Amino acid sequence: MAPKKKATRSKAPKSKPKSHRGKKSPAKKSARLASKAPKAKRLKFDPEVRVYATPETLVQETAHQVMQIAREAVNARGRFVAALSGGTTPKGLFQQLTEEPYRSLIPWDKTYLFFVDERHVPLNDETSNYRMTQEYLLSRVPVPTANVFAMTDGKQPVERAASSYEIKMGKFFGTAGPPRFDLALMGMGDDGHTASLFPGMPQVNELERWVVGYYVDASKKERVSLTFPVLNASRFLLVLLEGEKKAKMAREVLKGPSDPPRYPVQYLRPADGKLVFALDEAAASLLKK
Ligand code: 6PG
Repeated sequence: MAPKKKATRSKAPKSKPKSHRGKKSPAKKSARLASKAPKAKRLKFDPEVRVYATPETLVQETAHQVMQIAREAVNARGRFVAALSGGTTPKGLFQQLTEEPYRSLIPWDKTYLFFVDERHVPLNDETSNYRMTQEYLLSRVPVPTANVFAMTDGKQPVERAASSYEIKMGKFFGTAGPPRFDLALMGMGDDGHTASLFPGMPQVNELERWVVGYYVDASKKERVSLTFPVLNASRFLLVLLEGEKKAKMAREVLKGPSDPPRYPVQYLRPADGKLVFALDEAAASLLKK
């Protein structure tokens, strides 16, 4: 029987990664259920843009925002579930969350942390997002170890690491639909990528799987990443941009034409949630020009 065609955006490049996912894939099950749901209206890239005078105020204000999201989620649903990006930008925010008043105000015992993406390396590798998060956040706040879901330890084939994470997410969220994070903390690369969804890669067009694992030419590394269907199911997508080096791409993405295949971060379009770009003045310095 011909394999079922995977749901992808039109114009997807031909080469599609094989998947190790068996019939256990929660994404497949939830896609079957979703296919019976009314078609979501075509959403456009429409972020709220917040600019703060300095990196310090950017970090303080976004820490306050994270604390508010966390407390509201626990009040409403008894838990706060977030997906964290890696790289360097989140370090300042993580540091702030470990300090008062946020350390005391965030309900860490009811907090569950997943990862937006990860380099397919051992957890203690210096390029690991898990390691960075462990160093700047997890080792300094009382979030239970069992509440932290590392994405990969680099040991399995990268596609199997992705399908294992998908099964882990299915066990946590259930399979009625894509997982809904209360917060997805996002970054943006100089090439307009977000998560590990890079321009020109077919994984940018994945519309069924929740997690993909593949070799990324741009970073010469294997990566594991959440896909846009999961990211766009989030209640709050917070894109953090800090520093001069982000200014040019921030202007392209926020002020230029809509061209998400070229700037994948423009595919962030929450179906029923908020999309906020939070920048310091340096990252926003070309927005007015
Ligand atoms: C990663 C990230 C990635 C990051 C951007 C920005 O694993 O590198 O998740 O998507 O958010 O590349 O990285 P910086 O914060 O280092 O500029």
